[in-house]
Amino acid sequence: MPRISARKASEAKHQPSTITVFAHKKDKTWTLPGTDKATQQLVDNLKEDGLSFGDLKKGQLLRGVQLNGYKNLLVVGLDEGPALESIRRASAQTYALMRAHKIADADFHFDSLAKGVRRPEDAAQAATEGFLLAAYDFDVYKSKAKDDDAFAVKGMHLLTGKGTDRAMQNAIANGVALSECVNFTRSLGDEPGNKMTPPVLANEAAHAAKGTKLKVTVWDKARIKKEGMGGLYGVNLGGGPDCRFIIMEYNGAAKSRKPVVFVGKGLTFDSGGISIKPSQSMEEMKYDMCGGAAVIGTMLAIARLKLKVNAVGLVPSTENMPGPMANKPGDILTARNGKTVEVFNTDAEGRLILMDALSYASELKPAAIFDAATLTGAVVVALGNSYTGVFTRDKKLMKGIEDAAEISGEAVWPMPINDHHVSDMKGTFADLCNISSFRGAGSSTAAAFLEQFVEKGIPWAHFDIAGTAWAVGNRLNYCSRKGASGVMVRTFVELAKKYG
Ligand code: BES
Ligand code: ZN
Ligand code: ZN
Repeated sequence: MPRISARKASEAKHQPSTITVFAHKKDKTWTLPGTDKATQQLVDNLKEDGLSFGDLKKGQLLRGVQLNGYKNLLVVGLDEGPALESIRRASAQTYALMRAHKIADADFHFDSLAKGVRRPEDAAQAATEGFLLAAYDFDVYKSKAKDDDAFAVKGMHLLTGKGTDRAMQNAIANGVALSECVNFTRSLGDEPGNKMTPPVLANEAAHAAKGTKLKVTVWDKARIKKEGMGGLYGVNLGGGPDCRFIIMEYNGAAKSRKPVVFVGKGLTFDSGGISIKPSQSMEEMKYDMCGGAAVIGTMLAIARLKLKVNAVGLVPSTENMPGPMANKPGDILTARNGKTVEVFNTDAEGRLILMDALSYASELKPAAIFDAATLTGAVVVALGNSYTGVFTRDKKLMKGIEDAAEISGEAVWPMPINDHHVSDMKGTFADLCNISSFRGAGSSTAAAFLEQFVEKGIPWAHFDIAGTAWAVGNRLNYCSRKGASGVMVRTFVELAKKYG
């Protein structure tokens, strides 16, 4: 991973050959706050030559300009959208250009980057995130990757008026910790199903937690059965490796303080089971554990950032396979909270493993429960791959989520859930059925099903990340085009801060 640092312009221990300046569009003019006349002139020339601001957002490298001791000038235009997210994207774009032009390290002109941001530290953190998230690459299984890719971007230095400020250094350190946890979440998702099995996922969580204050407990199949988790145990009957229930605990506040609980779907491969999926794109179902991976990444980040909160992460994990002992349509399972469920479609398995995890979460009497799951194809129809769908009846909680997402830069959209959705999920011979008795609103009825396992009075929100957990690089330049996005880690960490 590249190294990020900050220093004052005057303390130039080492000056790289390239400086990046950031341009803002104001009406028809392009401004570069805090830079000198010579720089502005070079950028004005680009405009006179017919370059559009859209082109500038992709970045322009001016080689050999010899400016203030720098050989090269990189110019990157900032989006006109929310400031921190624009900074993340501009920083990611700079990383891509550095890679393409084999520039190992570059200074970032901080004043032109951070213009319009109230606290400079926030800009520093966002720039760090954009750069490190863009640097993620999952190439561990490419035997030739190391020789081909001898070039690596080594670092980025924020050139500021207050390079050595404590607040600035902390902001960079926080950005590094958060990005590393997001990238770790991505790598769990990108691992293929034959490598990333439930026992491996549990070991990864335990291993990553070493050296932090996190306590990791893993329940095996026998314990899961004994604990009455009929959904997780039931889905695992289809075959494949044994299931696991992963519990990650962090105590950063007084014992008396209620924890915030994060729950994530850890389905390491979803074949659909007996209600088997079509083979088209079935390989993508290795990503069905991305909610679980996000919860693991969130807990790691909370511990690394030493947040003053109590938090618990819960990940039910299994494969969904069509073996001889698999659930059959019509089978009835009993959840940990005693409710019974008819399995009419074995492909609606996410809710079956989450029902036990949410029941367990409720037993912890938490301040709030947030779950993330690649739960329904219907949410992809509704929102595509730009927005994560959020389901909660709690208006105050929804407001807090929208505020957190504004800071994190992750796009979320409120989705409906009401009593009609609940009645659509009533069973014939059991309390509930795992699919709706009516057509349509498949994401809302799925959410309504989950709600039946959250104890009344506990604030709860469900995040359906089926459209955003992977392959969103067509939307966001700091995500891979094909791989896992690590979505929800940044928003969940932001949400956790509210429970300190
Ligand atoms: N993991 C899938 C949901 C999914 C589909 C995620 C496509 C990402 C992309 C989930 O387990 C599932 O199969 N859901 C079914 C539910 C249906 C049978 C009620 C679906 O959405 O089709
Ligand atoms: Zn499924
Ligand atoms: Zn699934």
